Amino acid sequence: MSDLTRLEQHGPIAVIIIENPPVNAMSPGVPGGLIAHLRAAETDPQVKAIVLMGGGRGLIGGADIAMFGKPWPEGEPSLHTLIAALDACPKPTIAALQAHTLGGGLEIAMSCHYRILVEGGMVGQPEVNLGIPPGAGGTQRLPRLAGIAAAADMIISGKPVGAKKALELGIVDRVVSGDILPAALSFAEEMAEAGEPVAVSARAVEAPAPEFFVTLREQTAKRAKGMRAPLACLECVEASLLPFAEGSKKEREIFEACVASEEAAALRHMFFAERAATKIADIDSKTPSRTIKTVAVIGAGTMGGGIAIALLDAGYQVMLLERAQQALDAGCARIEKNYQDQVAKGRLKDVQKDARLAALKPVTDIEELAAADLVIEAVFEDLSVKREIFATLARVTKPGTILATNTSYIDVNEIATAAGDRVSDVLGMHFFSPANIMKLLEIVRADKASPEALTTALAVGKKLGKTPVVAGVCDGFIGNRIYNVYRREAIFLMEEGASPTQVDHALTNFGMALGPFAVMDLAGLDIAWAQRKATAHLRDPNKRYCTLPDRLCEMGRFGQKTGRGFYLYEPGNRKPVPDPNVEALAEDTAKESGITRREITDQEIVERCLYALVNESCALLHEGIAQRASDVDVVFCNGYGFPRQLGGPMFWAERIGFDTVLAKVTEFSQSHDFWEPSVGLKTLA
Ligand code: 3HC
Repeated sequence: MSDLTRLEQHGPIAVIIIENPPVNAMSPGVPGGLIAHLRAAETDPQVKAIVLMGGGRGLIGGADIAMFGKPWPEGEPSLHTLIAALDACPKPTIAALQAHTLGGGLEIAMSCHYRILVEGGMVGQPEVNLGIPPGAGGTQRLPRLAGIAAAADMIISGKPVGAKKALELGIVDRVVSGDILPAALSFAEEMAEAGEPVAVSARAVEAPAPEFFVTLREQTAKRAKGMRAPLACLECVEASLLPFAEGSKKEREIFEACVASEEAAALRHMFFAERAATKIADIDSKTPSRTIKTVAVIGAGTMGGGIAIALLDAGYQVMLLERAQQALDAGCARIEKNYQDQVAKGRLKDVQKDARLAALKPVTDIEELAAADLVIEAVFEDLSVKREIFATLARVTKPGTILATNTSYIDVNEIATAAGDRVSDVLGMHFFSPANIMKLLEIVRADKASPEALTTALAVGKKLGKTPVVAGVCDGFIGNRIYNVYRREAIFLMEEGASPTQVDHALTNFGMALGPFAVMDLAGLDIAWAQRKATAHLRDPNKRYCTLPDRLCEMGRFGQKTGRGFYLYEPGNRKPVPDPNVEALAEDTAKESGITRREITDQEIVERCLYALVNESCALLHEGIAQRASDVDVVFCNGYGFPRQLGGPMFWAERIGFDTVLAKVTEFSQSHDFWEPSVGLKTLA
């Protein structure tokens, strides 16, 4: 018996504890240890009931994801063996649940006779996010406890439920407050006297209305966005209408097929990639982060307002600074309206809205920022303005206050030097719009940023529910720098003969959430225009340049916000309508540049856009702007709509083979002067 599990005796109650930090996953050794303790408790005449719980933080994170795709050690009992043992246990078994109980964790809990859960705890079957259905009886037992409809919803969406809902649905038998152990012991004593326990597997399932699965299948297929796992989950839940053993067999078969799929491999890669992204290779993981309670946001525009909402939602005290009272009032009014809309949609309670607004302090005097532990500057993109702000911040804020800029492309090192001897407190926190919704957050590592400042920014990002990724300083950091070459390719393809609609369709058929032209219209063409004008003097006149986006802007066509961009938009409608004038403009610019327009295939569109993206990703990896290839994947899946089930551009390219990508990029470079295989790509190939 290993150190991974422990047995305690509390009078007539045996308590079996999982001790496998950080999340008590079912790694090799854990199921075997639990079974051995279970056998000991079963055969001990003193024991009347058995409690099973997670040690440490109390989590039970489910199967060990790192073991998927690897052989299970021979002779080592598995999660399935444990579940069969619990299912057949003659003495009452009680799962005492705290914090998160997920996947195989909930499957273990449901193979106990009873479950209690602490207030604030969560239970769920999130396997769909890993490209698989639950595979240890979850799809068979959850319908027996919660009913088919609720179980299908939880399993297909992968969303966990809180204690109140879990009780309401019958997933748990009692919700307790305070310390779990005494509550579990007294509940166990009660159940020991309650008569013969009935296994969940022996319960009946109530069949839903005949059309239930037909409708659900249609809805699921629509929402699955090309993923197989949601439909696999549905099939397994449907099998719960069969006798338990038959349904379980079917679940197992579907699980085995899914776990070996490319989709599951890509989603597993994303799971570990997102966690790896929060670590900085050359910084000790034990570096303490600073305590952040009050955060100041400078600039109450769309970005600053979105950042303020994200901070308020996460429970921070927020100061919002604008010099002009009118702009400040307008920014605060937008924040208030956002919360009112959420209340109207039933997503937020009135008291929560009031609490969040009470934590917001509008200020017009920068001296008041002396109280802040972190400042996030989100004013317009002008280096001299930002330098002036950081010089002032260095004077008014207390030492150790982290000074972050939300710039999207200005050199963070140049901003940082304005802070003088506070340079080590300066870094970038690059949010994506809308900042209260988008998951991605680039933490830009300025050359002199201290380890504590960086780990603190990462911790804040996690608390905000974001997926933070560390990026080095360069034009566009990781995301925008790579997206720029992808976008460049889309524009060149249009000049060469493809329409915006064809380019967008080819890339959405590949799996991108939106096509590049739809994205440009959504984001607003004027922002990139201003940037191009500001950096025009740096442009190599010998390199190809398409003037079409500039011409659209000169015509006041800024995208959705003006009703016209690459597409036309009806008032109040976001659906892009093709515009023959844009087609004519493309013909003009092609003629001026001496380009003969031609038929372009969807395959060429996909290859040129995505290989450009991969080529640049490799360059940036080689330069050390991204720490690891998987960081690029995290950025693209969370900020740019790359299909998660393909694992991000670098995972996708690796599956194709970097040598294949290099061969194609080399071929492109022979007919287009703007293509050059990057050293990074050559190295990886
Ligand atoms: N297996 C292996 N490692 C896991 C794991 C798991 N199930 N869950 C988390 N980890 C690892 C993470 O990779 C991370 O490792 P690192 O420190 O080396 O980077 C570490 O545990 C801590 O994870 P988090 O940073 O995510 O910790 P949090 O405290 O923020 O969150 C959690 C805890 C909510 C449990 C979260 O880790 C989580 O959601 N885990 C995945 C849960 C899940 O999907 N379970 C289903 C597994 S599949 C399954 O059970 C199949 C079954 O049906 C047969």
